[in-house]
Amino acid sequence: MASSLGTAASSRIFAASRLSLRSSASSAASPSLISFSSSSSLKSFGFSRLQRRSLVNVSSSSSRGFSTVASPKCAASDPDQLKSAREDIKELLKSTFCHPILVRLGWHDAGTYNKNIEEWPQRGGANGSLRFEVELKHAANAGLINALKLIQPIKDKYSGITYADLFQLASATAIEEAGGPKIPMKYGRVDVSGPNECPEEGRLPAAGPPSPADHLREVFYRMGLNDKEIVALSGAHTLGRSRPDRSGWGKRETKYTKDGPGAPGGQSWTVQWLKFDNLYFKDIKAKRDEDLLVLPTDAALFEDHSFKVYAEKYAEDQETFFKDYAEAHAKLSNLGAKFDPPEGIVLDAPTAAPEKFVAAKYSTGKRELSDSMKQKIRAEYEAIGGSPDRPLPTNYFLNIMIFIGVLAILTSLLGSY
Ligand code: HEM
Repeated sequence: MASSLGTAASSRIFAASRLSLRSSASSAASPSLISFSSSSSLKSFGFSRLQRRSLVNVSSSSSRGFSTVASPKCAASDPDQLKSAREDIKELLKSTFCHPILVRLGWHDAGTYNKNIEEWPQRGGANGSLRFEVELKHAANAGLINALKLIQPIKDKYSGITYADLFQLASATAIEEAGGPKIPMKYGRVDVSGPNECPEEGRLPAAGPPSPADHLREVFYRMGLNDKEIVALSGAHTLGRSRPDRSGWGKRETKYTKDGPGAPGGQSWTVQWLKFDNLYFKDIKAKRDEDLLVLPTDAALFEDHSFKVYAEKYAEDQETFFKDYAEAHAKLSNLGAKFDPPEGIVLDAPTAAPEKFVAAKYSTGKRELSDSMKQKIRAEYEAIGGSPDRPLPTNYFLNIMIFIGVLAILTSLLGSY
């Protein structure tokens, strides 16, 4: 009896402390945060060994700076807060021009996914682990601390959003605000809770490996992505710059980057590196400017036989690039994620496809018809069993046969007189 009372009491205290940790996620200096500095002080509250260990881990990790704040386990993000945060991200983009680094942040959180590992979070992916110092220190993530600093105030404002969701929301919003396609996103990603759940270093691609195409395939196939998706996603380099003091790649500054906007410097892949378009593919193909960057992995897209098919297509056709990019980006943003609810949260209802209205007979191709005119035309078509949604069939063969038949009848009639 005494022991079950003890268990009930300790689980209540455990729940209460989890609540106060949860509220502290939005304010590191919250007075409600209970500070558990040692396992022995927890023991006096009647916690089990496992409970003590998990609380001490959280407490000691949060003392290492803002990037180690614990998030509530298995908590879905709140849709209204996600929408408000999206507006805040738009404002942040307008004032700091940080589109590229937010895209890189989302990609580097998701890109650690390993499809061969089933367990979450060991499989890596979009789980917010990139907020922890240990992962930010991976060489591939050089400079991303700046992205985290930029969005941390938004995280602090919205306690009902996970880091995993915020990273992906920021990335998709940056693409859209830079003029890119609408990304079919869903949210509700659960956060990992401690730095011990970060993936090991070395899962992201290198820019200058000995055999770039093989390396890209090795890394992206491990994520479950294919050649088309590798090429489409590489097109994100239409945004941003590389900085020698971060990745080691690129020039210190160029004529396109020396004046910013945002922090000046670095070498961009495109002239207008804050605009999302297909110029990345056009510029690599043309190799037209020493001041524009082409990493060995970028060059591989036009050298490898299979990649080249897509790279050529995207250089020619921006619409296809946008369509393929949007699909690949959404897939990337979901890699390895655990969703709560399992089906995820969709923020924007899909827009209804515009009414199909071909009406070939009336169409001049120059002017949109009024609704009342469309109704009249539809009625006219339907009266003869047709539809304005399909062009009128033109059966040339039948017309020619009728014409020849009429000619033959006329000739035989004339001949008989
Ligand atoms: C294909 C393999 C890839 C390699 C080897 C690669 C490598 C790099 C490197 C070296 C940088 C420069 C970082 C710096 O110095 O600050 C960079 C920047 C960037 N990467 Fe990638 N990347 C790859 C794929 C991707 C993908 C899939 C995306 C997004 C979907 C992406 C988005 C970006 C963006 C937007 C930047 C610019 C960041 C900024 O301006 O701060 N990259 N990448």
